[in-house]
Amino acid sequence: MAIISSVLLIGASVLSVSSQTTTAPPASTPTLGNSPLPLTQYSFTYPNLPEQVNPFPVGRGPQSGYNICNSTTEGSKSLCQTMFLNSIEDFCLWGSPKPNGVVGDVEAEVVAYCSKPGHGTRIMPPGTLTAVQFIQTPGYIQVTGLFNQTGIGLKASDSGGELDPHGADKAGNPLGGLLFSNNLPGAKNNTITQVKNWSNFVGSNQFCFKACNNKITSPDYCLNIYDVEGCDFNMPASYKPNEFSVCLGDNQNPPGGDPVIPATSSCTTYSSTDLYPNTATTSTTATGSVSGSASGSGVTATSTKASSASSDASPAIGMPGFGLFAFYVSTIVGAMVGVVAVL
Ligand SMILES: *[C@@H]1O[C@H](CO)[C@@H](O)[C@H](O)[C@H]1NC(C)=O
Ligand SMILES: *[C@@H]1O[C@H](CO)[C@@H](O)[C@H](O)[C@H]1NC(C)=O
Ligand SMILES: *[C@@H]1O[C@H](CO)[C@@H](O)[C@H](O)[C@H]1NC(C)=O
Ligand SMILES: *[C@@H]1O[C@H](CO)[C@@H](O)[C@H](O)[C@H]1NC(C)=O
Repeated sequence: MAIISSVLLIGASVLSVSSQTTTAPPASTPTLGNSPLPLTQYSFTYPNLPEQVNPFPVGRGPQSGYNICNSTTEGSKSLCQTMFLNSIEDFCLWGSPKPNGVVGDVEAEVVAYCSKPGHGTRIMPPGTLTAVQFIQTPGYIQVTGLFNQTGIGLKASDSGGELDPHGADKAGNPLGGLLFSNNLPGAKNNTITQVKNWSNFVGSNQFCFKACNNKITSPDYCLNIYDVEGCDFNMPASYKPNEFSVCLGDNQNPPGGDPVIPATSSCTTYSSTDLYPNTATTSTTATGSVSGSASGSGVTATSTKASSASSDASPAIGMPGFGLFAFYVSTIVGAMVGVVAVL
């Protein structure tokens, strides 16, 4: 479906270009005035955003929501499509605008669900997040974990999918969706910066979200062509039930390489009630079932890659240049925990 419609779309845009101009404009020419640029070619400084990045009724457009989000738009009906990945306390995920959504059906129109109020978005309900790890590496920041995905509008059984600013027509999923961060490596400290390349998987009660350093284009840590292989393959990390932690980390192998869990250091653990006073429940009841379904369900490739990630971890640890002994120990422990979690 996606491929067919993109072929039609490319056909349509070629036709419209040739009917409007006698010579084809260079690819970098900003805008024909009535059709969208590839989403990654738009640059914005926050909060100077248009109401909609993609208001154009061509191809899959216009976008379903809006980019200016504020206290008026905040709440359970929000169609905000501007989101943030700042810290373990303050991040958002793309979720369904209507209950019982399936990512494959709603990917073009997903909306932001955030861990806390303040961004004009929907807010994750209490108890949604059951494990979160926030990692900062030279190449990217990343938040990974386990959750009750009904909290972001997804059907409980949805094995999910991937959202990114590309897509066959380069208009993004969601169309017009923007990501900002005040914590992006390579950006000036505490400056809210537009993240050009990012990738977010949600499904099987597992999530992962990576925001890449705008200054590093190679290797592409946000490469998002392995979109059916899930979090364990694309963003190998601990995914340990009930653990909430912030760490520094080595860069992972770019997606498509061995899905080895990268070494982490300087980890600090937190309680979810401290992190999410607005949304945490005092007891976590979802742990058992969420961890079971996160490791066991999902697309077939995910489970396969997840076990190879764990067994590949040990040889990689022995390689030189991986850092201090303490890093090895924490990685070995992390890898063993990973094996237990998979079993
Ligand atoms: C709040 O957001 C809505 C929806 O994008 C927008 O129409 C409105 O102008 C915004 N209000 C302010 C005060 O920015
Ligand atoms: C950001 O601030 C920290 C602490 O003040 C400093 O160590 C770091 O080098 C700064 N990073 C950049 C990119 O300026
Ligand atoms: C973003 O991704 C596109 C497509 O993969 C790539 O051409 C571009 O260099 C990337 N930009 C940055 C800033 O990483
Ligand atoms: C997820 O949340 C829904 C709505 O609160 C609840 O009915 C369901 O039992 C939860 N699922 C798990 C696995 O805890």
